[in-house]
Amino acid sequence: MSILITGGAGYIGSHIVERLIKNKIKVIILDNLNTGHKKLINKKAFFIRGDINDKNLVKSILKSYNVKTIIHLAACLNVNEAEINPQKYMENNVKGTENLLLSCKNSIVKNIIFSSSCSIYGNINGAVNENKKPNPEGKYAYSKYLGEKLIKKYSKKFNFKYGIFRYFNVAGASNSGKVGEVEKSYGHLIKNIAIQSLKKKAVIKIFGNNYPTKDGTCVRDYIHVSDLTDLHIKGINYLIKNKKSFILNCGYGKGYSVLNVVNVFKKIKKNLVIIYQKKRFGDVPQVYSNTKKIEKMFKWKPKHNDINKIIRSAIRWEKIFNKTNNK
Ligand SMILES: NC(=O)c1ccc[n+]([C@@H]2O[C@H](COP(=O)([O-])OP(=O)(O)OC[C@H]3O[C@@H](n4cnc5c(N)ncnc54)[C@H](O)[C@@H]3O)[C@@H](O)[C@H]2O)c1
Repeated sequence: MSILITGGAGYIGSHIVERLIKNKIKVIILDNLNTGHKKLINKKAFFIRGDINDKNLVKSILKSYNVKTIIHLAACLNVNEAEINPQKYMENNVKGTENLLLSCKNSIVKNIIFSSSCSIYGNINGAVNENKKPNPEGKYAYSKYLGEKLIKKYSKKFNFKYGIFRYFNVAGASNSGKVGEVEKSYGHLIKNIAIQSLKKKAVIKIFGNNYPTKDGTCVRDYIHVSDLTDLHIKGINYLIKNKKSFILNCGYGKGYSVLNVVNVFKKIKKNLVIIYQKKRFGDVPQVYSNTKKIEKMFKWKPKHNDINKIIRSAIRWEKIFNKTNNK
């Protein structure tokens, strides 16, 4: 079996690649290294530096490697940038997805996994399940919503099955110490915590403290990247075995406020300074997952659902990455 993984030089992609290689699967990575990182590229994978918008390139990869399964992660995901430059998100995330799908015409591709986002739900009171009508707020969320629509449309046209995973907030790093989150520009809270953990005087900014939530800060559902990786393996196996498409939330079903998470960090870094700043556009007050469907379908029991461990795992990676990068 060979699997094409777009965005395989990125944070989540490199974890999935590491696991697939461990399972002795032939992996082809297509990544333009826009936010991907050379150090995250698995040496045992076939790496092609290129763009999902390059239809001829994608077609030739599908053909020469006999690709039956694609895991499509390549995307831009800077929520603030998407508001300033929505065209970039339409070109890269929406047109890019469509071009990738069009390249599957007359190929042997039978399964596609697409990384969507919980942001397509908009603001939610209580745990959200997969039947909730999407209400994307913000241009990044909208690009993911349109991506889902394209996957469904072309699945009928080209006769492949799909697995749409709606990730909640992904954090942490692989136990191997070889892959983790590198890109800093997204403003992900746990990545920021990891960066600050290495500083003498740590400072964390909290954006908004008067949201209609328990303590006024945003509430999110954090999933460890290793559990998310497991879900992709289960997803591929499910598609191959059952030949049935699915849409699934990937979260733990527990909402932590930003302040909850920062307070966990404060126990590790006693001199932490917390600064409150004004709200960021596109941040909904609260979103966390209803996990019933994924638990039932995949008989899934998460292994890393502990916010302390997630934070410590991200900090450990930050230390390793900084050490090797400064050599
Ligand atoms: N990190 C999260 O918390 C989170 C949450 C929800 C959804 N997602 C989705 O997961 C996927 C992976 O995100 P990540 O956190 O690993 O980010 P990332 O930036 O580390 O990975 C994205 C990868 O895609 C590559 N890429 C982007 N555009 C490309 C193009 N046109 N052609 C080829 N390669 C391209 C980048 O170089 C990068 O390696 C994305 O689709 C993102 O929208 C992530």
